[in-house]
Amino acid sequence: MAPDDYQETGRFAVTLDGQDYQLPRHCPHRGGRLDYGDVNRARGTITCPLHRSVFCLKTGRHLNGPECGDLTVSRAPASAGRDPR
Ligand code: FES
Repeated sequence: MAPDDYQETGRFAVTLDGQDYQLPRHCPHRGGRLDYGDVNRARGTITCPLHRSVFCLKTGRHLNGPECGDLTVSRAPASAGRDPR
């Protein structure tokens, strides 16, 4: 899948510092499942499980790994009574 062929479908939330950050479910590189990615709260990053691209949770900025651009991230107050991811 070329990056231009990528179709984003679905979003999921990661809670960090009292905020829910809504992230795309799939990585823009080759569609890896970011909802199975490694969240590092100390660094505020998520790492794609497929080729290990690293993104900032708060801004979506691509920080490391295969070149693929940034994530579109939106935020809202953390949902009460839900297991934080
Ligand atoms: S699919 Fe996420 S880094 Fe390749």
